[in-house]
Amino acid sequence: MLHVEAKDLSVQKTMSYLLGGVSPRPIALASTISKDGIRNLSPFSFFNAFGGNPPTVAFSPSRRQRDATTKDTYRNLVDTGECVIQTVTYSMVQQVSLASTEYESDVDEFVKCGLTPVKSDLVKPDRVKESPFQMECKVKQIIPLGEGPGSGNLVVCEVLKFHIAEDIFKDGIIHPDLIDTVGRNSANFYTRASGNAIFEVEKPIGRMGVGYDNLPEFIRSSHVYSANNLGQFANSEKIPTKDEVIQFAESFGRIEASEEIFHQHSTHKNYQMMLNVALALRQSKHPKSDTFIEQAAKCALECNDTVFAWKAALCADLPSKEP
Ligand SMILES: Cc1cc2nc3c(=O)[nH]c(=O)nc-3n(C[C@H](O)[C@H](O)[C@H](O)COP(=O)(O)O)c2cc1C
Repeated sequence: MLHVEAKDLSVQKTMSYLLGGVSPRPIALASTISKDGIRNLSPFSFFNAFGGNPPTVAFSPSRRQRDATTKDTYRNLVDTGECVIQTVTYSMVQQVSLASTEYESDVDEFVKCGLTPVKSDLVKPDRVKESPFQMECKVKQIIPLGEGPGSGNLVVCEVLKFHIAEDIFKDGIIHPDLIDTVGRNSANFYTRASGNAIFEVEKPIGRMGVGYDNLPEFIRSSHVYSANNLGQFANSEKIPTKDEVIQFAESFGRIEASEEIFHQHSTHKNYQMMLNVALALRQSKHPKSDTFIEQAAKCALECNDTVFAWKAALCADLPSKEP
């Protein structure tokens, strides 16, 4: 581990650690307008939402690292107290990157990056048509976080009006595959938050997981289960009883079993058959049968069948029968 006090780091190093370690960050594409009516559009990844009542978002147009001067967006926010913040999606990321160019203050960045301005209803700055999620905002507070190069200016905004494309909803929620947002990592890296990057973790809300401390030692010390697998076991509300496990194990019929058959089922993530084969191998005292049982349980966990996984895992603790 690298252990270092922040006071001993250069601003550049500090920024590079923050950008890499606090990532991926959502990106606000902030539309503002100067007091002379010049439109400005810039991305900010020091950004997030902080509450729903009232709806509150905040972002930070920092002082420039080279000379500690403030950015056009910051000055517009101070002068006008309004902005529109839009979510950045994959289909617009190159244009958004272009909008981060430091054009002179009198340049309309909508024109430069080719994104389309649309009139807002409650604030003066325009919205960006290409973004499926737009928030008309009024500035509630600007908190300067320093005066030097790289110092942040936390701009706290209240959302007055949302504009949301209807085609990003699925089953009543904004679905990650449909909104297809991008996040910012270190250097020039971005994350596309859809497709294979998306996975679900069941919420432990309203129930009490048994906890790590209640996991049987033979499960905790297994070389097959990952830390995430153990987390899934520990998130379950109850551990099956011995009788339940015996009944479960007896429900599997006798089948032809071999390592090869086990691996065939494993390729297809057929965890029921994997366990069936593993139990059959256990009866013939196959040396790898307990590992195979754990692999079947692991596969069930990874298919989100935690009830099956628990019972399968506990089969490894049953006394093996004589063949
Ligand atoms: C994806 C992305 C995220 C950025 N995030 C920030 C940020 O959080 N804070 C910041 O001050 N600059 C950030 N920048 C740089 C600004 O967008 C850039 O300085 C821009 O020119 C500021 O424009 P302005 O002077 O017109 O306000 C980011 C740039 C990109 C491409």
